[in-house]
Amino acid sequence: MRLIQTEYLQGSVDIPADKSIAHRSIMFGAIAEGETKVTNFLRAQDCLNTLQAFKDLGVPIYDEGETITITGVGAKGLSPAKQTIDVGNSGTALRLLLGILAGTTFETTLEGDASLNKRPMERMMIPLSQMGATITGAFHSEFPPITIQGTTQLTPIEYHMPIASAQVKSAILFAALQAEGMTKIIEKETSRNHTEEMIIQFGGKIQTDGKVIFLQGPQQLKGQEMTVPGDISSAAFFLVAGAIVPNSEIILKNVGINFTRTGIIDVMKQMGANIQIVDNDLMNQSATLIISSSSLNAATIKGAMIPRLIDELPVIALLATQAQGTTIIKDAQELKVKETNRIDATAQELQKMGANIQATQDGLVIQGKTALHGAKVSSHGDHRIGMMLQIAALISKEEVQLENPEVIAISYPNFFQDIKQLVKRTE
Ligand code: S3P
Repeated sequence: MRLIQTEYLQGSVDIPADKSIAHRSIMFGAIAEGETKVTNFLRAQDCLNTLQAFKDLGVPIYDEGETITITGVGAKGLSPAKQTIDVGNSGTALRLLLGILAGTTFETTLEGDASLNKRPMERMMIPLSQMGATITGAFHSEFPPITIQGTTQLTPIEYHMPIASAQVKSAILFAALQAEGMTKIIEKETSRNHTEEMIIQFGGKIQTDGKVIFLQGPQQLKGQEMTVPGDISSAAFFLVAGAIVPNSEIILKNVGINFTRTGIIDVMKQMGANIQIVDNDLMNQSATLIISSSSLNAATIKGAMIPRLIDELPVIALLATQAQGTTIIKDAQELKVKETNRIDATAQELQKMGANIQATQDGLVIQGKTALHGAKVSSHGDHRIGMMLQIAALISKEEVQLENPEVIAISYPNFFQDIKQLVKRTE
């Protein structure tokens, strides 16, 4: 597919719903008691897979267009699926489901697509088996298809997380809600806290003290009405586009601004980007952002900042190709085990377009500022690499061809339409 190029960008975008929160809205709705109504659910492939997975586990879920209604079955009310549950490309669906299934009386097998079946699961097996579940990977490996045999006798744990991962933390918390006693999790770095926030929103109790989280189980949650805010990880592509395309201004509406997710705003401001936060709705953690063309300087991005922008790093690397100086991204080895190896994929594809970017052990080094040129590039089957390359194409003078653009529907089905309506040419 030929990617879109432009002279400048102008207009506004309604940012689609947050993928992390949309997955969790179905999960919490399913294990709560009573009815949950979710508005602004993300109808992207990853979240639809979570929805289907819970239907497979016997949860009545009705998609009524505006709202999704879930009749919660309670923590003990899931029923065995008739066959293997296929969660497609979604690591969040698979890993969080393992935490929920740890407390059942039955066995479930979960599998994914070719990408997910290569992603590491030992990080799940260690804590959840310490809590009493039995988990085995394909041919005794750590990889999916994964079979989990739950137990009603889950024991709480004290767990020092070896990596910063919201998925691992969340799965332990889902299991801890079903275990008798106090579970304590010590995070390596603070990762996104949607699960902790939603436990409270669904009537549960959890304490956080810096990097330490306490949850006393068992707890029964209660169904809620909720609206999913827009996804800052989707907004990120427009933030970078608005900053690097000359003479542009884009208004991004309904962007979720939970602090554990806003690293991109902090880093872009530090690099000199013209970002304004307006209509800041603190109650709903959502705001309107305005981004305009910016003169950018390089930055070093590392440590505690990394989990606050982990999914945005490929597009931040693109931003750095347009910043003066050397940008260093480090402590980001987790990027190697995302939907693809995002360190290598980002470096390889941006190099094809003329960027001065090198992969390192735990990140990327980018020398700016370089003009980007036409190329044939690949998404590597990864939605975020595909979207990053479309943003890069906007500033290329020559044609850019993207292989396998369909993967973008995994998180953002209307991405190309939303870009198209911003594209402007001087008459
Ligand atoms: C997610 C957590 C992050 C992130 C992923 C979604 C979540 O993964 O990269 O896209 O919803 O909890 P890790 O927790 O593995 O870092």
